[in-house]
Amino acid sequence: MLHLSVPSQDTQHVLQRLKAESALPEGARVCMDPSDSNRRLIPFTESISQETAAQYPVLEIETDSPPARNYRDHLTDFLPTSIIESTDWPTRHEFVGDLILMKLDENQREFGDSIGKALLRQHARTRAVFEDRGVTGIFRVRDLKLLAVREGHEETTRTRIVEGGHHLWTDPSTVYYSSRLSHEREGTLNCAMNLRQELARPLSICDPYAGVGPSLRPLIAEPELVGELFAGDLNPAAVEFLRENIIHPTATIECIDALALKNRLEMCENYDLLLINIPHDSLQHLPNILPLLRSNGIARGWAIIEDSDFESSIVQLHSMFGEEVNLEVRRSYSATANLCRFEARKTL
Ligand SMILES: C[S@@+](CC[C@H](N)C(=O)[O-])C[C@H]1O[C@@H](n2cnc3c(N)ncnc32)[C@H](O)[C@@H]1O
Repeated sequence: MLHLSVPSQDTQHVLQRLKAESALPEGARVCMDPSDSNRRLIPFTESISQETAAQYPVLEIETDSPPARNYRDHLTDFLPTSIIESTDWPTRHEFVGDLILMKLDENQREFGDSIGKALLRQHARTRAVFEDRGVTGIFRVRDLKLLAVREGHEETTRTRIVEGGHHLWTDPSTVYYSSRLSHEREGTLNCAMNLRQELARPLSICDPYAGVGPSLRPLIAEPELVGELFAGDLNPAAVEFLRENIIHPTATIECIDALALKNRLEMCENYDLLLINIPHDSLQHLPNILPLLRSNGIARGWAIIEDSDFESSIVQLHSMFGEEVNLEVRRSYSATANLCRFEARKTL
């Protein structure tokens, strides 16, 4: 790359001048002139004015290219500059274990394999990159299409995530898992610890929409916290992962419709802590799940609630649980709705 050799004291002045002429390359690095320690070498581009270029000696020196800042900096290895410059590249992607999932629009899709390869270059720990074509079905699983896989590695969407220091196996193409609620799950652990202290004994816990078990994983790791445990899900693939992820001597793991559990007399009024995480339907399902909770037990769940329904949802919760009800907005879901968390004690 071409550099100006300038006296050290002129460095700032020349840098400003090159910047004003838009002749300073991105990530430009000034270095010492090896032939004269009182001079500095400043890289420049072809936009330099003749006047500036004529003022100082010009040297051509080999430089390391600046490190790539994101995957887009690697696209030059796979696509012509004309395409790179004329395309709007996606800026967001999601890491799930050793996978990257990325949404693409119509124009980006034809360059999907180059995007995938560029992402693999940028993220050394990523094994494979998939286009995320959205969530489908009642199990809310992702429709994924392979864009690129690291040479010699498997294309599988099965992967292992780490949440709060715990490992969990999952597969976004067959089961639901989102790291977005990981903070909420820390709250669930705190809630359980407080309840355990209050009752002075291990808890009987029921998570009938357990997915791959991210809420239960930190609970079973806590000594003396879990007494009896029921983990269920309607998705058979999730139940397979539950069996792998939730290893606890008292765990009962089943593929069953949560709405049917109230028909099992031995499960009714049997649990101190009930988790209800089926956000699009939590409030509708609650009357069917509530019989599982013991008197004075706590239900903790997440629900998508329209702004206009917020007050009536509080009234609904009071009518089911009694006085001790808390409903909180956790984050925005759409222009008119929020993801809310409820925590309620059964006192009726
Ligand atoms: C939003 S996910 C929550 C999973 C998990 N609790 C978590 O936090 O990642 C809802 C789960 O409920 C399961 N599900 C949907 N309908 C169900 C039903 N009627 N009975 C039991 N599980 C159901 C889905 O398969 C999915 O795994």
